[in-house]
Amino acid sequence: MTRNTSHRITVCTSCRHKGEDCRPGYELIAKLRRAISEAGDSIPEDFEISGTACLAGCDRVCTVAYHATRKASYLFGDIQSDDDIDALVDFAKQYAYLHDGWCSSIDRPRRLRKSTLARIPATIMALEESLERVS
Ligand code: FES
Repeated sequence: MTRNTSHRITVCTSCRHKGEDCRPGYELIAKLRRAISEAGDSIPEDFEISGTACLAGCDRVCTVAYHATRKASYLFGDIQSDDDIDALVDFAKQYAYLHDGWCSSIDRPRRLRKSTLARIPATIMALEESLERVS
């Protein structure tokens, strides 16, 4: 499999736990970068891990998105940096191998099954590209 940098994990850095003045996204990014790096070649693609403002899952702190060119995208919520790192790394490995990024909840790491907020197919982009070629 070819390594490229089209694979991305985006973490919301605006999320706060209710009543707390915290920004858990920053800690999650640091832990995730370390864990993905430690996983090494067991993950067959490079992942760029970065933060962004609100991913519109504000009631499900902290939110994390996986996306890549020509693959389905995922948005996960209720992510805890201490408890969910292993599941996030396992999903990165799984996502890297899926040619279109598509998988059902039962195939995802157990901790992420109930925290999936969205799965968005890549076909929208493919359709737009084919329409551009026709016109
Ligand atoms: S503040 Fe994190 S999803 Fe909205």
